Amino acid sequence: TVKGVLFDLDGVVVFTDKYHYLGWKKVADDNGWNFDEEVNHGCRGVPRLASLQVILDHNKVELSQEEKERFADKKNEVYKELLKQINAEDVYPGVIPFLEKLRNAGIKMAICSSSKNATTVLDALDLTSFFGAVITGNDIEKPKPDPEIFLKGAASLGLTSDECIVFEDAESGVQAAHAAGMKCIGVGEAAHLPSAKTCITDYASVMIPVQTP
Ligand code: G6P
Ligand code: MG
Repeated sequence: TVKGVLFDLDGVVVFTDKYHYLGWKKVADDNGWNFDEEVNHGCRGVPRLASLQVILDHNKVELSQEEKERFADKKNEVYKELLKQINAEDVYPGVIPFLEKLRNAGIKMAICSSSKNATTVLDALDLTSFFGAVITGNDIEKPKPDPEIFLKGAASLGLTSDECIVFEDAESGVQAAHAAGMKCIGVGEAAHLPSAKTCITDYASVMIPVQTP
């Protein structure tokens, strides 16, 4: 039986993946770089500078470390500006009832997000209290697909890997969950999540084998 559910944040609990995309789109457009939703799939779950590298590689552009940091900062500024307007409509449909159902079943929950802005998002949407642990990009050394973030999440809940299920919208995140020895449900289209054995686009359809109290 499952005792814990570990959620990625952007693109899983909230639509902030759209704002990450728009942040990079602004930087790309300003520089005449090619960037679209398809390329953006490679930026999901990946830290700021690594996301920029995906875009640079796609455009065969080389930059100095200093320039890379400047563009990554620029994207984060645009992203933080967009965050000022987030509201209940940015929460993935069906997520709140799903979190309530898990809480009522005594399932422990954690957020495991690579983003350094994750706590800002959770607080702005009043979601923090659902989660027994929040692990963010500030708490890890090795990014997804390394399992560190999910191992930390499980440990913070006092659970082992085989007691946890992960929800992820990033291929890097699915790989990280598997590397942590956890089952993972992909959120989004299966075509973008080759490592996920199961994908959902709707939380109402999720059946988790939980122990009823
Ligand atoms: C999440 C998003 C990525 C983002 C990363 C780092 O994983 O899916 O698109 O690059 O967080 O976020 P940050 O807010 O620290 O730049
Ligand atoms: Mg994500």
